[in-house]
Amino acid sequence: MPSIMPIFGTRPEAIKMAPIVAALQQSEHFDCVITVTGQHREMLDQVNELFGIVPDHDLNILQPRQSLSAIMTRTIDGLDKLFTDNKPDAVIVQGDTTTSTAGAIAAFYHGIPVVHVEAGLRSGDLFSPFPEEANRKLTSQIASLHLAPTSVSKANLVAEGIDPADIVVTGNSVIDALLTTVGKKIPFTDPQLEGLATSGKRILLVTTHRRENQGGAMQGVGRALARIAAAEPGLVIVLPVHKNPAVREAVLPALAGKSNVIVTEPLAYGEFTRMLSLAHIVLTDSGGVQEEAPSLGKPVLVMRDNTERPEAVDAGTVTLIGTDEERIFKEVDRLLHDQEHFHSMANAVNPYGDGNAAARTVAAVGHLLGIGDRIEEFTA
Ligand code: UD1
Ligand code: UDP
Repeated sequence: MPSIMPIFGTRPEAIKMAPIVAALQQSEHFDCVITVTGQHREMLDQVNELFGIVPDHDLNILQPRQSLSAIMTRTIDGLDKLFTDNKPDAVIVQGDTTTSTAGAIAAFYHGIPVVHVEAGLRSGDLFSPFPEEANRKLTSQIASLHLAPTSVSKANLVAEGIDPADIVVTGNSVIDALLTTVGKKIPFTDPQLEGLATSGKRILLVTTHRRENQGGAMQGVGRALARIAAAEPGLVIVLPVHKNPAVREAVLPALAGKSNVIVTEPLAYGEFTRMLSLAHIVLTDSGGVQEEAPSLGKPVLVMRDNTERPEAVDAGTVTLIGTDEERIFKEVDRLLHDQEHFHSMANAVNPYGDGNAAARTVAAVGHLLGIGDRIEEFTA
């Protein structure tokens, strides 16, 4: 039986790989061997625990304030040793993290076919998001099978010269993860959040972590949130803050002592998706949240100047606002007070998936390895 090795290391990869791992484990055609790099630790383990994922191999590479080169070299070195004794028939990597690209390179060097999930996203700016735009372009050069979430991402790959025969549009497995989790109404561990859930108060849910926003831009995000909190005493700002110390140092100082700002540790995925469903507005620089919030009909303000996820911008539920303090304040203010504007953005749209991306992924991997026919692609 062919062995397939999903390789992942960060929170968003784990969330998006979880439905694929489940589908592989249910398949009678494959042996699924799970390898995690441990690029994230607490935030990775949190997801694995929720989805019942028990890694077969854990490279445990995390270092506090790790450099990009350290993630790359420690992953390639760990996988190099692993592949010497355990050579799978294919690896699956997800997205644009350094774990993902390092996993692809290590597999490629060992002659192992690389399946790239969430292939073809492009912002068009090599330096933003950094280093993710470069990471995903590098992986595209060496992957054998490119699983594009949407027809837009497929078109990006074709424009770069990738053979359409090697691309399959599957939808994004984040929607599979969301749909199996969000309805469960998982209780909040933090009693403040459970109280908030039944308070009827409007919630501004915020996440921020992008490397290129760290430092001055993220300090400005903190100041903007402090101004919103002061101007809107009836609103509650919920900020599950990323584990990265550089994020905490930048965003938290301006928020100290604000009674209507709740800062929490990263929420377990079940709790986060419940908070997403309760939120009035979402303010984020996250990739995954840009995909999830539109399918719940939440207006999303994205604190970036560009996006590799234009589908929800085109659908009108996502607006790119950058990181300028004044602009963040004004855009939140407008959504809070201009009902027509709010309703024009608060539409549930599903450009990213229908919940069947994992099944398509496993079928496409089968086709790559000579099991089954080419599948019918996802259309939005
Ligand atoms: C990484 C990815 C980014 C992705 C993000 C998702 C790269 C280069 N970056 O960025 O694409 O959007 O994950 O969140 O691949 N830390 C912990 N515990 C954890 C996680 C992080 O302590 O569970 C701390 C460590 O000090 C670590 C730092 O956060 O050094 C940064 O983590 P890292 O994975 O390097 O970068 P992210 O900003 O999380
Ligand atoms: N998420 C979570 N808990 C949180 C914040 C986010 O489970 O406290 C989930 C969110 O639902 C999404 C994913 O984490 O699926 C996004 O991860 P992140 O923003 O760290 O990375 P990105 O998607 O930007 O690469």
